[in-house]
Amino acid sequence: MNILVVGSGGREHAIVTAIAKSPKADKIYCAPGNAGISRLAECVPIKAMDFDALVTFAKENSIDLTVVGMDDPLVGGIVDKFEEAGLRVFGPNRAAAILEGSKAFSKDLMKKYNIPTASYETFTDPGEAIAYLKTVRFPIVLKADGLALGKGVLICNDLSEAMKGVKSIMQDKQFGSAGNMMVVEEFLTGREVSVLSFVDGKTIRIMDSAQDHKRAYDNDEGPNTGGMGNFSPSPFYTKDVDEFCQKYIYQATVDAMAAEGRPFKGVIFFGLMLTEDGPRVLEYNARFGDPEAQVVLPRLKNDIIDVFEACIDGRLDQIDLEFESDKAAVCVVLASDGYPISYEKGFPIKGLEAFDGKQDYYCFHAGTAFKDGEVVTNGGRVLGITAIGSDLKEARAKAYEATGWVSFENKYMRTDIGRAIDLI
Ligand code: AMP
Ligand code: GLY
Repeated sequence: MNILVVGSGGREHAIVTAIAKSPKADKIYCAPGNAGISRLAECVPIKAMDFDALVTFAKENSIDLTVVGMDDPLVGGIVDKFEEAGLRVFGPNRAAAILEGSKAFSKDLMKKYNIPTASYETFTDPGEAIAYLKTVRFPIVLKADGLALGKGVLICNDLSEAMKGVKSIMQDKQFGSAGNMMVVEEFLTGREVSVLSFVDGKTIRIMDSAQDHKRAYDNDEGPNTGGMGNFSPSPFYTKDVDEFCQKYIYQATVDAMAAEGRPFKGVIFFGLMLTEDGPRVLEYNARFGDPEAQVVLPRLKNDIIDVFEACIDGRLDQIDLEFESDKAAVCVVLASDGYPISYEKGFPIKGLEAFDGKQDYYCFHAGTAFKDGEVVTNGGRVLGITAIGSDLKEARAKAYEATGWVSFENKYMRTDIGRAIDLI
């Protein structure tokens, strides 16, 4: 089969790596891809939002299956464009991707179908939002309705912070049109867990859980980032948690989307908070997480092409997902110092060959590019170093060992990825 993957981050490198394991994959393309992906796939310089050029490319190159990794093209309707052109594509269409594209939509959906989540109010008028905020208990959470690169969530400790937040989201439009609407949400406390799932419109199959580290600095300090590392499975995702989520969250979400006339096909990412009162949905994403994909997919035993095709054809009920669940994975992100605020790029990366032929070690590229034949840094998150071990401790030791194999100017990483596991 000829396969096209759309995206250019560590998540897409993990997806391409899983696809490359399948005997069904003949030729893999990635648009636009990055330096690491180019070792497994032919990278084509088409932007993920250039739907017409992607459709033309897919037709001209007899692409049998396209897999979309990123949120922007999904929310923008790339799947609809491919389907209209008669092409097979894995991912939710525009009507279903709204699950991630609008927080107001997803909150209303959860409320309507009794899916456990934080209580909330939605506003389109900043004055009304402020009047409401004068009546609430703090801390409180403000969320821009639309996509905001994972940054549209503000936790406010008092009214003055909240008023500044309303101004930046709704009036200064810090996140652009994502701030036309705003959700004000109850502040929840607990451990966060990410659960990815495959969905075919009716059936849902859950992948191994993962735990992200979103803040830039050690001890969960500093600004929120796309994710500085993570591990899987999460020891906090217990049997009881799983039973609760199976009963009240996973299938309920899939059924709710179908009942709304928006059947979801693709990956649903459940961002969960394990509160004292039980699991609550913090957010949905309509795609694999990044770096979650980098710790979950390396342990998937199924042929991922079979799973993608079963989702497209609505026969996921015939597939049992299997993971190397007796093993654990840890991913440490190597970033450019200064990420997510400001950082330099273009520095040569040395030592990448150390990963060649090493079992249990992966070097997923995120922001990398070629310059004069050399691999150089080209983004905030540069590499995701993943290691597999017999348990989380071993995986973490191996991942940190491997972070020393590569070097580049301005290399920055958190030193405490997976440390929470020492607590249990
Ligand atoms: P989201 O993009 O919705 O996942 O939000 C980003 C981060 O903000 C989450 O990973 C949480 O750490 C935090 N967050 C979001 N919603 C809440 C909430 N209701 N209570 C506490 N923290 C939250
Ligand atoms: N790691 C969080 C995300 O992919 O949104």
